[in-house]
Amino acid sequence: MAKQQEVQLDSILSSFEIEAFQEDLLYWFERQQRVLPWRENRDAYRVWVSEIMLQQTRVETVIPYYERFMARFPTLKDLAEADLEEVYKLWEGLGYYSRARNLHSAVREVQESYGGTVPNTPEDVYKLKGIGPYTAGAILSIAYGLPEPAVDGNVMRVLSRILYIEDDIAKAKTRKLFEAVIRRIIAFHNPSFFNQALMELGALICVPRSPRCHECPVMQHCRARETGNPEKLPIKTKAKQVRVQEMAVGLVQLPDDKWLLHKRPETGLLANLWEFPNIEIADGIKAGEGLSNAAIEQLSRYLYETDGVRAIPYEKVMQHTHVFSHLQWNLHVYVCKFAGSAEKVREQVEQKRAVWVSLDDMENYPFSVSHKKIAEALSKGFQTSLF
Ligand code: ADE
Repeated sequence: MAKQQEVQLDSILSSFEIEAFQEDLLYWFERQQRVLPWRENRDAYRVWVSEIMLQQTRVETVIPYYERFMARFPTLKDLAEADLEEVYKLWEGLGYYSRARNLHSAVREVQESYGGTVPNTPEDVYKLKGIGPYTAGAILSIAYGLPEPAVDGNVMRVLSRILYIEDDIAKAKTRKLFEAVIRRIIAFHNPSFFNQALMELGALICVPRSPRCHECPVMQHCRARETGNPEKLPIKTKAKQVRVQEMAVGLVQLPDDKWLLHKRPETGLLANLWEFPNIEIADGIKAGEGLSNAAIEQLSRYLYETDGVRAIPYEKVMQHTHVFSHLQWNLHVYVCKFAGSAEKVREQVEQKRAVWVSLDDMENYPFSVSHKKIAEALSKGFQTSLF
């Protein structure tokens, strides 16, 4: 560790009563922890899946997904043997789909290279796809009881308040500082509970707005509480601006009542998920307006060039906004009038990147959240047959 950071650490931890803090924190966690399905036992595979699902996602949202996932894939081997498509299907609606893809790929790696047992050293765990420092620390401490830090945004919020650390948590260097802090204050006799207790404190008590300081089990150790304004911490510089894309979506129906779906590319955003054909509209759309003639032309041309379908956007049936961490899609959904020729579609279908699907069959295709909403609205009948 850099000398400078060591000096900073000494200063942060001077007069901090480490043992008393551990005792108060663990005493509280042992009595007050929530009953959560991934706390039933310490199986490393179960801990791993829970930590991946919990990234950027609330506990209440994760619970039913986790339970369905574990019912279908109770062991690492079950998941390793499954098709990615089925994994996506169980992940549908949870978002950040690369998590599912990486988990599936890493689980296969563990099955092949480690005989199905999740490795228990930082070097090996960290090498697995989709596992960064936080997840590695969570698995190693929660499942294997190793004194490794697991630092995410919640833990940084909690510790920045308790120890009054004003460093910008948007910087990678600050996460390293918090990891070094934890290496010094972690309860060596129970690293699993220590890390989980910090997470639990962040979820139940030391919440971002209006923290419940009067209920806090470690209030006596908290420096931010003494200042009277714990909400001021952590310090975080503004995130990058979200890019907005206006998307035209075409719902194209064959005379036999089947709808055209595309599969997204194998890499990048929402890789391999299914969606209705769509393109970004270059000339922009003003709020409340429909597609311009030029945009309608663009969508038609796209359908012809990619699928060989002659189809004309006919009626706007839905507008929907979806916000990702870095991007916003404004989806303008049009029913298109099918005007013939499906030659090229067959080519695409053969390459398994396009399908014509009946409404009943659509639920078997993993969609991104926004296109799932469109499919649901479609099945509820915002449009009847145009033929
Ligand atoms: N958030 C991230 N990991 C968690 C865990 N193991 N329990 C509860 N909330 C969490």
